Amino acid sequence: MSIIEIKNLSFSYDKQQILEDINLQINKKDFLAIIGPNGGGKSTLLKSILGINDIQHGSIKILGEKIKKNLSKIGYVPQDTNINTNFPIKVIEVVLMGHIRNKEEENKSNNFLHKYFKIGYSEFETSCALNALKQVGMEEFANKKIGSLSGGQRQRVMIARALCNHPDILMLDEPTASIDVNGQKQIYELLKELNNTITIVVISHDISVILEYASKVAHINKTLTFHDISNTKETLKKDDEHFCEVEMLQLLGSKGTCLC
Ligand SMILES: Nc1ncnc2c1ncn2[C@@H]1O[C@H](COP(=O)(O)OP(=O)(O)OP(=O)(O)O)[C@@H](O)[C@H]1O
Ligand SMILES: [Mg+2]
Repeated sequence: MSIIEIKNLSFSYDKQQILEDINLQINKKDFLAIIGPNGGGKSTLLKSILGINDIQHGSIKILGEKIKKNLSKIGYVPQDTNINTNFPIKVIEVVLMGHIRNKEEENKSNNFLHKYFKIGYSEFETSCALNALKQVGMEEFANKKIGSLSGGQRQRVMIARALCNHPDILMLDEPTASIDVNGQKQIYELLKELNNTITIVVISHDISVILEYASKVAHINKTLTFHDISNTKETLKKDDEHFCEVEMLQLLGSKGTCLC
């Protein structure tokens, strides 16, 4: 069964059509890369899947059900998670924000504030957050101020926040923008590891990274072109460091807009 199924989706902001007749099926344990030019509608598609955008035409199903019923199944790392580094908040507190509560958990809580006033966090939630930090290799930073971390470390914390609810799908919007090549590789290695159990959907402009890690590619520029590259990857790899989006799409037999 597909984990996300999008049929005939169209979306407009006011009168400007951003997405047109999108059809996409994402299967369990796919590593899907979403590429396309600036303003092409990549973030808009993720926000539609997350129910942040109310879609006007078509349907989106997550695990066979309407979007809002299964939101806790999706972890989301938004674009531009740059935060005010002077804000005095600890890493563990940032991760705890990722919890989506359900009644059952609230009733189990031993924490008075949490149980009766719905504020604060239960021991269970705190241990889940610590576990998520462990998954991204940042457990020892739990008590540090978020502002004292490097960009790559902060992005790991954002991934931990998205993992807090044990999602089946992790969606990341340009997670490595403004991170150096080494840091980028580490984040993608982490995603590769997570992909053993979780479906990964990542928006990226970095084609060499996509060729290395993704099994499927969706190019979005109002309309969507889909490619399964799981079997053709090796022939697509080139010795050149810089690999242009349009070159890749040409190799895949599709038209695209060059970004480079
Ligand atoms: N909240 C909004 N209200 C109105 N227009 C919007 C809004 N968000 C995005 N847009 C417009 O929708 C179009 C698609 O934006 P979107 O953010 O989905 O592009 P993108 O493919 O993610 O681009 P980028 O690579 O720059 O992140 C753009 O023209 C943008 O200006
Ligand atoms: Mg975007």
